[in-house]
Amino acid sequence: MSKLKGKVAIITGASRGIGKAIALTCARLKINLSLAARQEGPLKEAAEEIKKKYKIKVLAVPCDVRRLEDLENLVNLTRHKFGAIDILINNAGVSSQYPFEKQPLEDFERLAQTNYLGYVRLIRLVINEMIERKSGSIINIVSGSTLCDPLPRNFLVYSSLKVGLRAFSKGLFWEMRDHGIKITSILPGVTATDLTGKLQGVTLDTSRLMTTEAIEKAVEFALTVPANVCPLEIAIINQKTPWISPVIPFIQKHPEK
Ligand SMILES: NC(=O)c1ccc[n+]([C@@H]2O[C@H](COP(=O)([O-])OP(=O)(O)OC[C@H]3O[C@@H](n4cnc5c(N)ncnc54)[C@H](OP(=O)(O)O)[C@@H]3O)[C@@H](O)[C@H]2O)c1
Repeated sequence: MSKLKGKVAIITGASRGIGKAIALTCARLKINLSLAARQEGPLKEAAEEIKKKYKIKVLAVPCDVRRLEDLENLVNLTRHKFGAIDILINNAGVSSQYPFEKQPLEDFERLAQTNYLGYVRLIRLVINEMIERKSGSIINIVSGSTLCDPLPRNFLVYSSLKVGLRAFSKGLFWEMRDHGIKITSILPGVTATDLTGKLQGVTLDTSRLMTTEAIEKAVEFALTVPANVCPLEIAIINQKTPWISPVIPFIQKHPEK
């Protein structure tokens, strides 16, 4: 019997890709789920599929993590349905591939609000309850690109925000450990999802892409280690990472809409 049976997790970006794979893993561990993404249709479909397969309770909440009121609504509805929030898995993210001088100015805001502020705000909204209960697990899906120095070309704003997120997450671990709360960053390598499917050059050689399997295992590991242990960072990098030339050419055009 899973020790996690009956616990409650919020997972953002859970309608597809890495987030959905993590949701299926949590459901297998008998964790009840509150799932969030912007588009209601695919989110509800994912929620139904997971509920049917694993017979757990699933709440699907349409939510744009860029909007504070949507995050508040997500937390309130989750508390209302399940009571406490034991686990938060911040995953919703968008990518962007531009030579810096061509990157639209509004793209910076979209990336910062989704990939950084969305994570930090949602943590802030659940953390006080976790502090009161002296328990909780927060997992942030960061990026293996944060391990590259210098950062991968054409992904500077995306990757530098992920570097900031990684630093925040590590710092939060020290602030929260005496409150009994675990903070883990997962740094995935390039993974075959819709996000990478839209990028240019990255998927030329698909044998270099990971599936979500190792990330799912990392989440399970983080949630099942002994109570006095916290995996601070788990980096899962492709054996032959496509960040390395010549798979990504130096000159790249942004994909046409
Ligand atoms: N794939 C990779 O190679 C890779 C590598 C390292 C790190 N990551 C990180 O892993 C995370 C997931 O990536 P993925 O590859 O699984 O992407 P994906 O397949 O494009 O899925 C993204 C998910 O996030 C949701 N989402 C996007 N913007 C949102 C918003 N503003 N509010 C709420 N939900 C939103 C999407 O649903 P809606 O569109 O309906 O909102 C979808 O459910 C991201 O943080 C990404 O940076 C990915």
